[in-house]
Amino acid sequence: MNNIKLNGDVYCPSEEIKKFAIVKNWDDLNEFVSKDYQKFWENEAKELHWFNSWDKVLDDSNKPFFKWFTGAQCNIAYNCLDVHTQTSRRNKLALMWEGEKGEFRSLSYFALHRETCKFANVLKSLGVKKGDRVTIYMGRIPELAIAMLACARIGAIHSVVYGGFTVEALHERLEDSHSKVLIVSDGAYQRGKIVPLKSIVDEALQRAASVESVLVVRRTGEPINMESGRDMWYHELMALPIANNQNSIEIMDSEDPLFILYTSGTTGKPKAILHTHGGYMVGTYTTLKYVFDIHEEDRYWCAADPGWITGHSYIVYGPLLNGTTSFMYEGAPTYPYPNRWWQMIEKYGINILYTAPTAIRGLMRFGEAWPNRHDLSSLRLLGSVGEPINPEAWKWYHRVIGKEKCPIMDTWWQTETGMFMITPMPCVPLKPGSGTKPFPGIQMDILDENGKTVKPNEEGKLVIKTPWPAMIRTIYNNPDRYVTQYWSKFPGVYFTGDSAKKDEDGYYWIIGRVDDVIKVSGYRLGTAEVESALVSHSAVAEAAAIGLPHDIKGNAIHTFVILRAGVNKNEKLIEELRQHVAHELGPIAKPESITFVDSLPKTRSGKIMRRVLKARALGEDPKDLSTLEE
Ligand code: WTA
Repeated sequence: MNNIKLNGDVYCPSEEIKKFAIVKNWDDLNEFVSKDYQKFWENEAKELHWFNSWDKVLDDSNKPFFKWFTGAQCNIAYNCLDVHTQTSRRNKLALMWEGEKGEFRSLSYFALHRETCKFANVLKSLGVKKGDRVTIYMGRIPELAIAMLACARIGAIHSVVYGGFTVEALHERLEDSHSKVLIVSDGAYQRGKIVPLKSIVDEALQRAASVESVLVVRRTGEPINMESGRDMWYHELMALPIANNQNSIEIMDSEDPLFILYTSGTTGKPKAILHTHGGYMVGTYTTLKYVFDIHEEDRYWCAADPGWITGHSYIVYGPLLNGTTSFMYEGAPTYPYPNRWWQMIEKYGINILYTAPTAIRGLMRFGEAWPNRHDLSSLRLLGSVGEPINPEAWKWYHRVIGKEKCPIMDTWWQTETGMFMITPMPCVPLKPGSGTKPFPGIQMDILDENGKTVKPNEEGKLVIKTPWPAMIRTIYNNPDRYVTQYWSKFPGVYFTGDSAKKDEDGYYWIIGRVDDVIKVSGYRLGTAEVESALVSHSAVAEAAAIGLPHDIKGNAIHTFVILRAGVNKNEKLIEELRQHVAHELGPIAKPESITFVDSLPKTRSGKIMRRVLKARALGEDPKDLSTLEE
């Protein structure tokens, strides 16, 4: 990416950054990888530990069910922990954690390995076996990472449910995954208040039959209900003789499932994206190493929640695979004051900060004085993920937080991709608002409706043309939906659900989702989820949800509701419905507005035309109305 020829607003990395970076010349790496991308991934895989090597790097004999490193045996948890305890990293910090109330905890690789082994033995003693599903529903505390790693260690499939979700979302995910064990914390701190996770679990479990045991981590100490025969305290189990630190690792096939993670898609229920041990391990290890340029002495902070893919790949697995020190913070960025993040960067000497545009916009609101009170000079690199970053927020982040010396890695990827797909590296010239180009070896394109590549600067559908190691393998229990959802719009290529443009320099610019997914503060929600939560209220006959631009959240949910006959429209009901959605799904799904209507625009086949509602709300032309019923 030769900066001399680039068009527009371009930020070039300093000589210092380039000299320090692992990859010094992106074009050289890209040229090398493009010649034989399988060879590249194979070389990367060789940096990790395998019990048995592979017969094939990529098996594409049953497209689109691609397999990676077939015939090989490994365990991602072994590479995250055991490998490092056998080296001088043994006493290096693996996790550093600060609680919202200010407590600090740290675990060395040795200690994290020990806790993981102990908990793996606890799970085994409860009858959890390879392939069993375990749901994890917690705040951001170290036990969340321990639980994930313990599952991986014994070959159980973890399903982490974001702690911001509530009863209905949790219930649906427990039922679909048939989880045997549920690991929860008594509560979670958020902005000085306690989110009562255990009581949400009690409510959800009234209807979920598969769960046999609930393991409760004490975090808040608030009184909770413990059901005898079902609920057990984590700390009591960890004190039993069975919870010793001798735990033999389960030898997994490369393609054995590692986790499922539910995410919203076009209509219908959330789907469980399935990732595997081998390919996911190679993908997250490699991308984190090159993009965030991991050096031995780094302290790395990904401020996402482990309940989303960003936390899986880049708080837990990627950083530990690289043997780096990963920092985790429990609470809200502005609690008790808007300098909380900047204070922790100074206090712990964080070198890399990876967050979302919504957080940056939220902090920007409070002005520069808050970050300026702190020494942020330890920062070397910044990152962004989750939605397009508007150039104004990008520039603020770059100038005020990065002091114009920290390049911003704007990484585009998805739950389904498992790893960064469009992303710069520190040596790459940046344009605010663009994630630059696909990671070397990844071929992407932007297509029109007929599957033809669009011209530069024209909008089209973003697709991926070559398989990659951390790719989704299937939708758990629903392989047909995997094929129709991702591989059917354009035959032979993976459709991302996003629209994008490519400029004359080949830089990608993401525009947004083209399906019924709304990104609220970077979190992914389906219109269908919000609509069914509304319809579950006795006053509601029908509902439609759309996303509209919002200054801080990126998008906010706006809804249109048809009430049942005889129900009175009033302000009180609006608030009641908003609360109802928050209770069912979680506060992130609470609609910004509810408008009562007498009818909704529908196609002749009865599908709600959300784009018509959206165009009307934005005062735009709804364009093609030929399928509208009336
Ligand atoms: C959006 C999050 C623009 C995109 C890792 C994608 C982005 C969806 C970016 C996936 C980015 C993610 N720039 N848009 N840097 N990163 N997106 O599954 O619409 O929660 O399809 O994964 O987020 O969301 P998900």
